[in-house]
Amino acid sequence: MSYEIKLLFTVLVVVGLMQLQTLVVAEPQVPCYFIFGDALVDSGNNNKLVTAGKANYLPYGIDFPQGVTGRFTNGRTIADIIGQFLGFPNFIPPYALATDQQISTGVNYGSAYAGIRQETGRTEGERVTFDMQLQNHEAVMSRLSRLQQNNTFTQDYLKKCIYLVNIGSDDYINNYLMPNNYPTSHIYTTGQYAAVLTQQYSQQLTTLYNLGARKIVVYGLGLIGCAPTEITRFGTDGKTCVESINNAVGLFNDRLKPVVDLLNSDFSDARFTFINLTNIQETQGGEVLPNVACCQVRPFDGQCIPNSVFCSVRALSLWYVGFHPTETVNTIFATRSYSALSAMDASPYDISHLARL
Ligand SMILES: *[C@@H]1O[C@H](CO)[C@@H](O)[C@H](O)[C@H]1NC(C)=O
Ligand SMILES: *[C@@H]1O[C@H](CO)[C@@H](O)[C@H](O)[C@H]1NC(C)=O
Repeated sequence: MSYEIKLLFTVLVVVGLMQLQTLVVAEPQVPCYFIFGDALVDSGNNNKLVTAGKANYLPYGIDFPQGVTGRFTNGRTIADIIGQFLGFPNFIPPYALATDQQISTGVNYGSAYAGIRQETGRTEGERVTFDMQLQNHEAVMSRLSRLQQNNTFTQDYLKKCIYLVNIGSDDYINNYLMPNNYPTSHIYTTGQYAAVLTQQYSQQLTTLYNLGARKIVVYGLGLIGCAPTEITRFGTDGKTCVESINNAVGLFNDRLKPVVDLLNSDFSDARFTFINLTNIQETQGGEVLPNVACCQVRPFDGQCIPNSVFCSVRALSLWYVGFHPTETVNTIFATRSYSALSAMDASPYDISHLARL
C-alpha cells in the first residue's frame, strides 16, 4: 500500500472564507480553550528550556503575524487555527508566558519533544512531558479558582471549555524509532508498544477529566513514515513513505479510538472525540506534492538550520521542517477537525459540534 499526500486548493479558499467569518463573531463559542501536546501545538514553551528542540529563530515563523515565537512551522499551528475557528480574537498564550488575566480564556501547555512517556525526547534536552503538562494545568486550575473565588462557578466554567490533546508522535520519532538511544524497541513489539502507550494515555486523559475537563479532543497520529527526516533515516524501499513506520503508528491509532470510546462510556458527563489525521491526509484530494522539507534541516533532529534558506512558495509545500507540516497542511488538519468531511475525520463529534454540546 502506498500513501500519497495531496493538497486541494479549493479547501484553502473555504478556509479563507471561514477566517473572514470568525472576524465578525463577537464572542468565542466556548469561554476557554486549553491545549496539550508536542511541537504540533507548541507556541513557545521550549524557548527558555535547555534543549536543542526549540524554534525561536528564523526561518521559523516567517509567515506568522508576530514572526518568530517558538512555533515549529512557518505560520500558525493546528491549535492556533482551531482557536480562530472557535472565535478567539487572540492566540492562546503559552504556559511559560500566561498571565493571571489570560488564564481564564485558556493556556497552551504544548512542548516540542514531549511524549506520553516520561523519557521520550530526552536526547534532545529539556521538554515538558505530558505528565508535567497535566501538573502545570493543575497549578493553573488552582490559580483560576483563587481568581474566580467561587469553586462552583469555576467547575461549571471549566466544563464548557475545549481541551485539545495532540501527543504521541514523539513516543515514536524520539523514542521507539531511535533504537540506539531508547530501549523501548528492544523491549516491546510494535503491537505491545501501542498497547502500553495507549494504556498510559488513557490514565492521563482520566487525570484531565478529574481536573474538570468535559469536552476533550484527542488527536490520532498522522503518517509519521512520510515525514522527510524519517524517510532520510530509514529509506522507503521505492515507496512514497516508510511503510513500516506508518503501520506501527496505525496500531497505536487503532487502539486509541476504542480508548476514546471507553472514556465516553465510563464518564457519561464528558464528551471525548477522536480525530483521524491519517484519514485526513489520505483522503485530501488535489495535487501530489513531494515529502520534502521547506527549510534546510539538521540531520540529527530534523529542525531548521538557523537562518538557512527556505522554499519561496510555502503554500506548495507539505512539510516545513523534517517532521512538522507547513501552515497550509495545518490549515487542512484544523479545518477538517473543526468541520469534518465525514465521520472518519472526527468521531463521534467534530470540534464545531463539540463546542455546541
Ligand atoms: C457561585 O457560583 C454559582 C454558580 O455560578 C452561583 O450560583 C453562586 O451564587 C455563586 N456564589 C457566590 C457566593 O457568589
Ligand atoms: C483512520 O483512517 C484511516 C484511513 O481512512 C483508516 O484506515 C483507519 O482505520 C482509521 N483509524 C481509526 C482508528 O479509525
